[in-house]
Amino acid sequence: MAVSVHNLLKERRYPFIASLVLLLISVAFFTIWFDNVPHLKLVEYKKEQNWVKRSGDYLLFPGGGTQFKEGVAHYVQYIEKLWWVFDGQRCYNNVFCSKDEHESQIQFALERGIPATLSVIGTQRLTFPDNAFDLIHCARCRVHWDGDGTGLNIFDFKAWRVLFWSATPVYRDNERDKKVWEAMVALTKAICWKVVAKSFDSSGIGLVIYEKPLSSSCYESRKENNPPLCDDNTRPKTSWYTRLDGCISTIPVKNAWPTPWPQRLKSKPLSLSTSLDAERIFHEDTKRWSEVVTNVYIGGLGVNWTSVRNVMDMNAGYGGFAAALIDLPLWVMNVVPVNEPDTLPVIFDRGLIGIYHDWCESLNTYPRTYDLLHSSFLFGNLTQRCDMLDGAVEMDRVLRPGGVVIVEDTIEMLKKLKHILGSLHWSTTIHHQRFLVGKKDFWRPDQITR
Ligand SMILES: *[C@@H]1O[C@H](CO)[C@@H](O)[C@H](O)[C@H]1NC(C)=O
Ligand SMILES: *[C@@H]1O[C@H](CO)[C@@H](O)[C@H](O)[C@H]1NC(C)=O
Repeated sequence: MAVSVHNLLKERRYPFIASLVLLLISVAFFTIWFDNVPHLKLVEYKKEQNWVKRSGDYLLFPGGGTQFKEGVAHYVQYIEKLWWVFDGQRCYNNVFCSKDEHESQIQFALERGIPATLSVIGTQRLTFPDNAFDLIHCARCRVHWDGDGTGLNIFDFKAWRVLFWSATPVYRDNERDKKVWEAMVALTKAICWKVVAKSFDSSGIGLVIYEKPLSSSCYESRKENNPPLCDDNTRPKTSWYTRLDGCISTIPVKNAWPTPWPQRLKSKPLSLSTSLDAERIFHEDTKRWSEVVTNVYIGGLGVNWTSVRNVMDMNAGYGGFAAALIDLPLWVMNVVPVNEPDTLPVIFDRGLIGIYHDWCESLNTYPRTYDLLHSSFLFGNLTQRCDMLDGAVEMDRVLRPGGVVIVEDTIEMLKKLKHILGSLHWSTTIHHQRFLVGKKDFWRPDQITR
């Protein structure tokens, strides 16, 4: 099974089951260098569960865990069966990983080449657009559904349609678990989520599948408007430093499911602006990126793509760069800077993943987690608000030693950047007066001794 999951991952970018595996973190087919994630706390803490083990220079992930008594492959097979019974035709894309409660789980995931990001839940909106995700999976994810109103913000989880919830309240009978289960029943009823399946696998682990309504009509026919529907006129549209407001976002009247993968990647995105030119601009963008990636990035810059897995596009626009790389065995985190036009809903419509970010601030990820960074005309706008040095140092932080950056910009910007990266001992080359390729080395400044 481990092998077939691996093949699935290779064949299609974000197929439904692969996405789940990515979420579960405990995939069974990976080994990472201990020195890259030198944390033993998790190994100690999870000793009984066979989740992660140290073996000499490596950390191994045998695939155990409280939730996965018979291994993660067994669990995935089980939910796969359950799900196909309910809905066999749809392909679910997009990946999201939450809660880093134990030491550096997100760092482990990234080290293993699994898409993951850090976010605060419970006080601020997650930095994703509304209705972005097709499916949310929460296996013992420790969201306190019954406490502090945190659970009430389930709808800020941005699920478009389904939640898979598997945790002890689903299948254990003690008082605390019962209380959580009752809170979850009341909450999901109040927000019109339907239970479409509740089941127990052979090891006794339970799972519930909830479905979000497809229109706002159920919300309106509730006896009590609690939690209230959001007022779209006054509600902030952005999810960057936006406090949670505890209301349910309305479902657009013209609400359709995107076309199946892989057509979804190139067909007209549902959230594309309705202006006359938008569709033409979108298709031209897809075509331009396909040409640039094929002719310049892959063939012409001397980058070794075989060793690249974790990629970030720092100014992703419609996600054309990621779309052009779809046939390579890598994944792209598409970042939409908060001061650029909001194209993130389009990126999610295409079945790609991304986040909002302000490159004048630090990024929510661990150091040395990306293999390749790409930016296209990011610096012109950025340098109006902060120093280019801030962005360059952040790139240096998140990039793995030996990793590569590709920057497309004006020659003035490229020269400034080349100077800064040179001072960090990167090797850089400029191609066609338009592209800079930078390679980060293992150099660090001498330690300051006092
Ligand atoms: C590219 O990277 C792969 C994997 O790290 C390596 O095996 C291969 O030799 C590299 N190719 C070149 C041309 O450097
Ligand atoms: C720069 O910012 C403006 C808005 O502040 C935006 O309209 C524009 O698309 C951004 N990008 C570039 C490359 O100018």
